[in-house]
Amino acid sequence: MKYTIGIDIGTSGTKTVMFDKNGAKIASATVEYPLYQPQNGWAEQDAADWWRASAESCKTVIEESGIDPHDVAAVGLSGQMHGLVMLDGEGNVLRRSIIWCDGRTAEECKMIEDTVGRERLIEITANPALTGFTASKIMWVKRHEPEIFERCRKILLPKDYVRFMLTGEAASDVSDASGMQLMDIKNRCWSEEVCEKLGIGMDMLGKLYESPDISGYVTEEASRLTGLPAGTPVVAGAGDNAAAAVGMGVVRDGRAFTTIGTSGVVFAHTDEMNIDPEGRVHTFCCAVPGAWHVMGVTQAAGLSLRWLRDTVCTDEAARAEAEGVDPYVIMDAEAESSPIGASRLLYLPYLMGERTPHLDPNARGAFVGLSAMHTRGDMIRAVMEGVCYSQADSLAVLNGMGADIDNMLICGGGAKSALWIGMLADVYGIPCGRIESDEGPALGAAILAMVGAGIYPTVGAACDAVVKLRDVADPDADRHAEYMKYYGIYKNLYGHLKDDFAALAKM
Ligand code: XUL
Repeated sequence: MKYTIGIDIGTSGTKTVMFDKNGAKIASATVEYPLYQPQNGWAEQDAADWWRASAESCKTVIEESGIDPHDVAAVGLSGQMHGLVMLDGEGNVLRRSIIWCDGRTAEECKMIEDTVGRERLIEITANPALTGFTASKIMWVKRHEPEIFERCRKILLPKDYVRFMLTGEAASDVSDASGMQLMDIKNRCWSEEVCEKLGIGMDMLGKLYESPDISGYVTEEASRLTGLPAGTPVVAGAGDNAAAAVGMGVVRDGRAFTTIGTSGVVFAHTDEMNIDPEGRVHTFCCAVPGAWHVMGVTQAAGLSLRWLRDTVCTDEAARAEAEGVDPYVIMDAEAESSPIGASRLLYLPYLMGERTPHLDPNARGAFVGLSAMHTRGDMIRAVMEGVCYSQADSLAVLNGMGADIDNMLICGGGAKSALWIGMLADVYGIPCGRIESDEGPALGAAILAMVGAGIYPTVGAACDAVVKLRDVADPDADRHAEYMKYYGIYKNLYGHLKDDFAALAKM
């Protein structure tokens, strides 16, 4: 029996999972690490934490699996997209990584659009300049920390730094690299034109692969730290969303999924490249060679509920600890006792600025309609509903581009909540299903490793063999109608607050 391992470098931690070739989970380990927010709207992590967490979790998984590690056919990587890792000529990390949800680069985005030309930028990179994307982070370092930029010889993404430590290779895959804003998305290669205009040497960028391709082999030194035999192949892998798509079988036209992770995503596969001229959703190469995906992003989805848990729901967290359950289980029950509309309380999930559909790093969260009668249950429900409305905004843009999505798969931490899935089905007005595995990107990365190792001939064939539907929540027409009344008001709120968000950001 051959096994593969998927390593997913997430924002709250790295999760490593070993699967057999049928997709059955053999062993799993997660190692967490901190997120640093040195200023309002900034977000950084230590690349060394990602590597330590990957190596430790890999070692645990191999030990706990009880298999001969030589039976690991290949390893696949997946991870949070866009994070900037800068290395010097010796491969040392030069500064903390500025990660995907950092919004400090509004000025650099404007400079990028002025330098390349907004239309030309969208034509080549398929997206307008975004604070979340890597290019603007590179330009920020160039402007604000020129001495670091001077010493920088390689620029990598989070999972690609782990690849570098595992194999010694500086490389990426086309799905994750799409989010750097330095690629020609149509032709699936680095854009000489964009790099040259931004003064970013092409020799700083890693070699590009399609996701199932082998990108290198585990070195002797990495073998000691991970327990993987030296020489184990490491496939290129994918950005977390493209990897989650593979893990859920969203690898053909007409298929779509929603993630409620730290961020929220609504993702649709497309065999033809399709760009939103307004740039409200991203078009990226996907993990299926020769195909793309379009996706909308809610910056703070699960992050909104985690924030509420940590700041407001401390009683629930204490009760959960005493009862030995997950705090979210108790928060769910409280939310369930609040009616649709959370007793007329609305929540905007813009804690970290927003991408879809507003593209505004200055946007911030808000409760609207708070009354002295509101309970924590109402607040929890309002947060969950607000995240659903934000994802409905993404779905509307994708459908407007012709995606024609009539059913949805749901994944991410939020998919553990039957209440949240039911809410999404009712808000979207379409059936929302879950697949049997809840390993998302880690499973996707492992499936890509199966293809790279030759266990299956194509990503589609591997998904057909591995991915199985677990259950489906059907929408209820009356509840849908009720939610739409609140969604109508929700949609107005950003427009009312936009100027005040901008003014607040300047204070
Ligand atoms: C996608 C994005 C997030 C991160 C976080 O564009 O920024 O989904 O990948 O996981």
